[in-house]
Amino acid sequence: MLRPSVLRLLGRTGASRISLLEDFGPRYYGSGSLSARDDASDARAYFTTPIFYVNAAPHIGHLYSALLADALCRHRRLRSPSTAATRFSTGTDEHGLKIQQAAATAGLAPTELCDRVSEQFQQLFQEAGISCTDFIRTTEARHRMAVQQFWGVLKSRGLLYKGLYEGWYCASDECFLPEAKVTWQPSPSGDSFPVSLESGHPVSWTKEENYIFRLSQFREPLQRWLRGNPLAITPEPFHHVVLQWLDEELPDLSVSRRSSHLHWGIPVPGDDSQTIYVWLDALVNYLTVIGYPNAEFKSWWPATSHIIGKDILKFHAIYWPAFLLGAGMSPPQRIYVHSHWTVCGQKMSKSLGNVVDPKTCLNRYTVDGFRYFLLRQGVPNWDCDYYDEKVVKLLNSELADALGGLLNRCTAKRINPSETYPVFCTNCFPSEPGLVGSSVRAQAEDYALVSAVATLPKQVADHYDNFQIYKALEAVSSCVRQTNGFVQRHAPWKLNWESPVDAPWLGTVLHVALECLRVFGTLLQPVTPSLADKLLSRLGVSASERSLGELYFLPRFYGHPCPFEGRRLGPETGVLFPKLDQCRTWVVKAHRT
Ligand code: MSP
Repeated sequence: MLRPSVLRLLGRTGASRISLLEDFGPRYYGSGSLSARDDASDARAYFTTPIFYVNAAPHIGHLYSALLADALCRHRRLRSPSTAATRFSTGTDEHGLKIQQAAATAGLAPTELCDRVSEQFQQLFQEAGISCTDFIRTTEARHRMAVQQFWGVLKSRGLLYKGLYEGWYCASDECFLPEAKVTWQPSPSGDSFPVSLESGHPVSWTKEENYIFRLSQFREPLQRWLRGNPLAITPEPFHHVVLQWLDEELPDLSVSRRSSHLHWGIPVPGDDSQTIYVWLDALVNYLTVIGYPNAEFKSWWPATSHIIGKDILKFHAIYWPAFLLGAGMSPPQRIYVHSHWTVCGQKMSKSLGNVVDPKTCLNRYTVDGFRYFLLRQGVPNWDCDYYDEKVVKLLNSELADALGGLLNRCTAKRINPSETYPVFCTNCFPSEPGLVGSSVRAQAEDYALVSAVATLPKQVADHYDNFQIYKALEAVSSCVRQTNGFVQRHAPWKLNWESPVDAPWLGTVLHVALECLRVFGTLLQPVTPSLADKLLSRLGVSASERSLGELYFLPRFYGHPCPFEGRRLGPETGVLFPKLDQCRTWVVKAHRT
């Protein structure tokens, strides 16, 4: 039995999956910089999103999956700027009964539906700044070849046998269900029909001769692997859930369907009467992208991080590692799991008409604004509820007012007439707190600020490692607030550049605030790339000075030279983030695909 907390975690659509530990742990030195040298910068990292079903247009849940992967990958690139060391794939899942039925309902040939919707995903991801290096479609010839090859390996290792498979099948979720996972739901006409307990989608009884995979043989290997790799599935509660699933019986799995029933898929090699099960087909995409079966794939596997929603945990944490072990390969290193977005407390669905269109949101709230919102508000462990008011409030307060206001306060001509990074005065802000002297102006809270911002890059990296990107953004936001407090406390607008008493302290206040802004801009790059670029450009930070390895916060405070001191700021490019008007930014919720 699953614990109630675990059931809550999985929500109604709970399902599951697994992995090994990545040793890209951050190490810091000096004043808060991440050492690229210590960061396995030459090690490769391969990030993946799930591949998306093409039965309907993309919604914000899909975009969220892709954004999480994008932010993780961009953060990794910041640690080790050699782009050759990272690969990031996404794509569309185009075979199976679900797509076959959706095409028939739409009166389209399956290829037409696939082309149309796959294009929508590609456009959306391009618009949203998803920095993928690969986009795969499972209808491509290279993928068919990889899947058939993979099948051949499983077959040759004695892991596939033919047998009669009987049970419930859910076409929407593309999975078989045991009797205990099915319930009967009353229909409006008074009859009742069988549905999946987890997803609520209709199921139907199937009885076929299929190819069956010896999944039951992998229960213990999977348990050993998970117990030996406690960070394989992150956040931890999902790791725990999978181990609980593995305590239960693990029956063999049907991995093909009769072609007369399912024609839209990849035929079983040497047996055209059977089509390969769509999940086996789909999971192999992660190998196709990196060149499987050519040996080149080995330089990327298993340095893999799969980002997935909780509803597909079982496929990624049990089936996929079992297939891989069966084929003589290692399971993926890490599986990062996130929860779902609901709308006004309800699951998003076409039939409820409450699907939130991501394109409308990107237009209304800007690309950076909407990226920031989803990643700042989305909590991997729990479902999150979407509503428009929340977006406007958050963006106005954190991006327009707090961050934009801070930049404005430090760069406006009235306060910073020379438009430079002013000189830091060590007499005004000595590195040792508590010193007394006529020139000392820094107060206890100022030392707290310096300490908070100096440790921020490490905190942020730890949150990324734990797949808690919202916490990374919360930490940045809290430091932005603290920096605004610092500026407010010392009111540079009341100090006079002409006064020999005020001027060194005025320069120091601005220098510290600009240094804080440089850290915030650097750390925000994975989430709000354009806004961060605008911020860093305004500060005069060049492209080669934006990686985590280059981030030496406030070196003057620690007795080192600062390359920015005395440098001219970049050109004025207007408001950092325009304030949103609550009434004019309403997104039409009843978006139809
Ligand atoms: N095609 C399979 C994945 C195969 S991967 C080898 C699939 N596709 S999907 O289009 O249904 O879902 C893709 C991703 O979107 C999943 O990670 C899923 O969890 C995520 N989301 C779908 N609805 C979502 C929300 N409402 N909220 C957040 N993410 C959601 O499953």
